[in-house]
Amino acid sequence: MTQSTERDRVLIFDTTLRDGEQSPGATMSHAEKLEIASMLDEMGVDIIEAGFPIASEGDFKAVSEIARASRNAVICGLSRANIGDIDRCWEAVRHAARPRIHTFIGTSPLHRAIPNLTQDEMVERIHQTVTHARNLCDNVQWSPMDATRTEEDYLCRVVETAIKAGATTINIPDTVGYTAPRESAELIRMLIEKVPGADEVVFATHCHNDLGMATANALAAVEGGARQIECTINGLGERAGNTALEEVVMALRVRGDIMPFTTGVDSTKLMAISRRVATVSGFPVQFNKAIVGKNAFAHESGIHQDGMLKNAETFEIMRPADVGLKETNIVMGKHSGRAALRSKLSELGFDLADNQLKDVFVRFKALADRKKEVYDDDLLALMRDQADET
Ligand code: KIV
Ligand code: ZN
Repeated sequence: MTQSTERDRVLIFDTTLRDGEQSPGATMSHAEKLEIASMLDEMGVDIIEAGFPIASEGDFKAVSEIARASRNAVICGLSRANIGDIDRCWEAVRHAARPRIHTFIGTSPLHRAIPNLTQDEMVERIHQTVTHARNLCDNVQWSPMDATRTEEDYLCRVVETAIKAGATTINIPDTVGYTAPRESAELIRMLIEKVPGADEVVFATHCHNDLGMATANALAAVEGGARQIECTINGLGERAGNTALEEVVMALRVRGDIMPFTTGVDSTKLMAISRRVATVSGFPVQFNKAIVGKNAFAHESGIHQDGMLKNAETFEIMRPADVGLKETNIVMGKHSGRAALRSKLSELGFDLADNQLKDVFVRFKALADRKKEVYDDDLLALMRDQADET
C-alpha cells in the first residue's frame, strides 16, 4: 500500500449528543452527556454539537456545562432560523473557549411548505438570522435542511445568501438519507464551483443512513470538496442513524492511498467510546458492525484462523490495537481447525504432541457441535477429562 504524504485535513464534527440523542429512546442523563463530551474532546474530535439549547432546560444546561468544560474542541449548539432560538443557543455556547452557533432551515419544496414561506421570504429569513448569529459569534454554521432534495438553483441561492450574511461553515444535509455517493460528491463540487464566496467557507456533509449509504456518501462528499464530516458514535441518530464516526475515521486512515485525507481523531479511543455510548444510550452495537462490533475482529472459520495465526494481514486490514482492542478474538467453535486449537491450548498451558492433539481435536469437535462457542473453561474441562481417561 502506498501512502500519500500530502493529506488534507478533514474536520470531524460529532453530533452524538444532538442528532444521536434525537433517536427515539436514546435519551442520556446530564452526567452521561458531560462524560461523553469529555471523551470526544479527549480523543481529538474537532467540533462537538452538544445539543439544541432551546429544546429544553436540560439541553440548555448540558450545552452550557459542556461549553465551560471543553478544553480543545469547538462547542456548537443547534438553533432554528429565528432570533429567540439563536439567542438561547448563544447563551449556552458562549462559555466555550471556541463557541459555534449552528442554525438551519428546511429549503426543499416539502420543507418550505411547513412555515409557508415563498422562496424570496425564505432567503430574507436566512439573511436576517445568519446576520444575527454572526453578530453574536464569529463562528457560524448554516444548514439548508433536506439540501439533497432542494432545487439546484435555489440551493445555490440560499447558500450564497448565508455566506454573504457571514456563515463560516456551510453544511449540506442529506436529511432523509436519499442521496447516492456519486450525487453526494457532485453536489458539493457544484456548490463550490458555482456559488460566489464558496472558497471562503468550509463545506460540511451531514448524511443519514436510511439506505445504508451514509458513510459512503460522507466520504464521497469529501472527494467533492467537503472538509467537515458530521457523524455520531456507533452511527446513532434519527431513524437509521447518521454517518458513523468510527467508520469514516478508520476508512480515511486505512485507505489513505486513495483518499488522501487525515483527521485529528485518536483511533485507539474508538472502542472505549463506542461501548460507553452503547451503554448510556441503551442502543447496543450490532455484532457485525464495522470497526466496533463484537465480531469486527473475531475469526471462527478454520481457514481464517489458520491464516490469522500465520499472518494477521491475511484476514485483517486493520490491527485491533488501532481501534483500542487488545487483540484479535479467535473464537473457538465448530468451524475452527487444528491449528487454532493447538494455539489456544498452548495459550492455556498445554503443548501437545501431534497424536495427542488428534484425540483432543475429535473431542473438541463433538463439543463444538453441541455448543455455539467453546470457551477456555470448556477446553480446560475437556483436557481434564482427557487426562482422567488416559
Ligand atoms: O438531518 C438534518 O438535516 C439535520 C439538520 C438539523 C442539520 O440534522
Ligand atoms: Zn440530521
